[in-house]
Amino acid sequence: CRLAARARLSVVTEEKMAIYFDEEKKIFYLESGCVSYVMQISQFGFLTQLYYGKRIPREDVSYVEKLYDRGSEAVVFGAPSRRYSPNVITSEYPSYGKGDFRECAFIPRGADGARVFEGKVKGFEILQEKPTIPGMPSLYGGGETLVVTLEDEISKVQVDLYYSVYDELDAIARRAVIKNNADTPLVLDRAYSFSLDLPAGSYKVITQYGAHMRERTPEVTPLMHGIMSVDSKRGATSLHSSCFMALAAKDADEESGDVYGFNLIYSGSFRLTAEQSPYDMVRVLGGINDFDFSWKLLPGESFYTPEAAMVYSGKGLGAMSRTFHDLYRGYIINKRFVNAVRPIVINNWEATYFNFDIPKLCSIIDTVKDSGIDMFVLDDGWFGRRDSDRSSLGDWTVNKDKLKGDLSALIDYVHNAGMKFGLWFEPEMVSEDSDIYREHPDWAIKIPYRDAAPSRDQLVFDLTKPQVRDYVVKAVNSILSQYKIDYVKWDMNRNITEIYSDGLPADGQKEIMHRYILGVYEICERIINGHPDVFFEGCASGGGRFDAAMAYYFPQIWTSDDTDANERTRIQYGTSLCYPLSMMSCHVSICPNHGTARTTPFKTRGDIAHLGATGYELDTTQITPEELAQIRRQVTDYKAMQDLVLHGDLYRLDNPFTSNYFCEELVKKDKTECVVTCYRRLMEVNSAVKRVYLRGLDPDMKYRVEENGMVLSGAVLMNVGLIPEFGGGDFMTAVYHIKKAGN
Ligand code: GLA
Repeated sequence: CRLAARARLSVVTEEKMAIYFDEEKKIFYLESGCVSYVMQISQFGFLTQLYYGKRIPREDVSYVEKLYDRGSEAVVFGAPSRRYSPNVITSEYPSYGKGDFRECAFIPRGADGARVFEGKVKGFEILQEKPTIPGMPSLYGGGETLVVTLEDEISKVQVDLYYSVYDELDAIARRAVIKNNADTPLVLDRAYSFSLDLPAGSYKVITQYGAHMRERTPEVTPLMHGIMSVDSKRGATSLHSSCFMALAAKDADEESGDVYGFNLIYSGSFRLTAEQSPYDMVRVLGGINDFDFSWKLLPGESFYTPEAAMVYSGKGLGAMSRTFHDLYRGYIINKRFVNAVRPIVINNWEATYFNFDIPKLCSIIDTVKDSGIDMFVLDDGWFGRRDSDRSSLGDWTVNKDKLKGDLSALIDYVHNAGMKFGLWFEPEMVSEDSDIYREHPDWAIKIPYRDAAPSRDQLVFDLTKPQVRDYVVKAVNSILSQYKIDYVKWDMNRNITEIYSDGLPADGQKEIMHRYILGVYEICERIINGHPDVFFEGCASGGGRFDAAMAYYFPQIWTSDDTDANERTRIQYGTSLCYPLSMMSCHVSICPNHGTARTTPFKTRGDIAHLGATGYELDTTQITPEELAQIRRQVTDYKAMQDLVLHGDLYRLDNPFTSNYFCEELVKKDKTECVVTCYRRLMEVNSAVKRVYLRGLDPDMKYRVEENGMVLSGAVLMNVGLIPEFGGGDFMTAVYHIKKAGN
């Protein structure tokens, strides 16, 4: 499709445009990678959806808007017949109140309390440069952006719908900007990022739920008549659900079938909904959660929704994931580091928890200093009087008594050992037992005359207040400028309750959750972009804020506090639905595992942790010489495959939720190399011979399997398959490095 498209493009100038408007038929054609997205300005002036899917020629497909008389349904005012009911017409930004009774994207409330928006197309613009969103991360541009302006003539509410396309990716970015052109205030009770109507059909819905140490479990449910939603009301995308939803054809699987994936580029409370109407019409929509949300717009003010990434795949979930991975690696993840070789870290959290001093940390460093590990990360407990998680957040001063020296002594020791130094912060939080809270109790989000619900014995800084943001930036920056810090682990360990800020009026209280996230983005911008050479890793009790907007700042995020290799196969598999392996931090820890009490082989822990940004998190003074030797071997192996982790195409060959196996293949873009990691959960006696059918290779290329010396064509590896040799026992891995023969 891409080659054909390019050949055509070189002939006809107007076809060069990835976004094209047919004046006569009033049809927009958006072309992204191998995808077409077709909309029309209807005879009544509304923006309707005609087609989204595999690339089609620019023909008139408006015949799909086939309307029947639906009895007593409300109809568009002035329509020539009763067939024109908003409840069966597709809409690019549906609103409530004029007869569309499906879920809507937009609920504006005028000064008189009326809540109707009749948005008609007022104009459009095609931009060559993709605009950014003020105060919020969004995808960088890859192609053109269409902005369609809708306006309600009576309320003077304007909605600009943004659609950005990518020349080489089957992805479209969407968002909305709402502007109050009236001379009275407007309140937004809902302002989603996108809405899409798909044709009637049998779909299944793929979402993800989770919990602490069990993040991003995929769930597949048939789309029923009625409404299905996933959301977060926590002020973070959360451990408990992901801002991802896909609608897939009933028979779609990993390798085949139509899949429409949606992911919000947002880190706060969200909602994603799929609805099948009684007429079988299907709608997917979402954005900022409108639960406990409203936003006041004074005359002339605008509201910017976060962006949503939409990916279409005609080749199943695997291809959808690969497009999301390419989209995020190419267009959102922190540009300074997305392609940089990631440091292999050793982190002291599971090694010592809060119980450490410089001599203890140095003894750990001594054991690994010439193992190839690049970075020592000092986790929680180095500041204030922090000997447990009950105190000192917000007091970012080095606890020299506890450390038995200044932090600089440890940093010098690390640097002299040839390693870099990383430090843990939790900038957004404050402990009630802290000097800063005693001085400024009004700097935390809480209701002053109520007790605050304890959660890890900490409160959330009120980042809606500029003076609090300034304090946090200053406090973190002061440590970063005082000490030679190469890396920061930025944690966030509680969700927001008692949502109240005395910095906002009574009618502004429902703005807090979104203003909080805008505050997070602002402090990230000021701290992270203020230190361009420091590598920042994200974390939120593990994967409690693992989203594409965070990736704009944090090229990698601690995937889960669960470091058990068996559990990790599931968590990493689920995370890979949307996010590339390079975004996932994965560590080898001690066994029995602190979370599950399970013992898995050291090799297995390494092999599973290699499927991401790898590292170690254990007391290396307490492990055997053989295990220390294994660390050296693992580091060497990882360095050899890191390029594939950063840039390769991921093929998920076995699903650990439905089988005894987990198997991932990383293929170099030019298909000359791949690594296959196979994991068998339980040893089964007299079991079937396991075969792993590789994917994504060149069928005609000859490959050499390093581990057994076999030379086989891509066709054989993909159709006859490999037989992994696990040896005996549970929780075993077999890894194969496969390269173009003759290299
Ligand atoms: C969270 C993180 C852990 C660790 C602790 C420190 O739980 O996910 O990795 O940093 O906080 O308190």
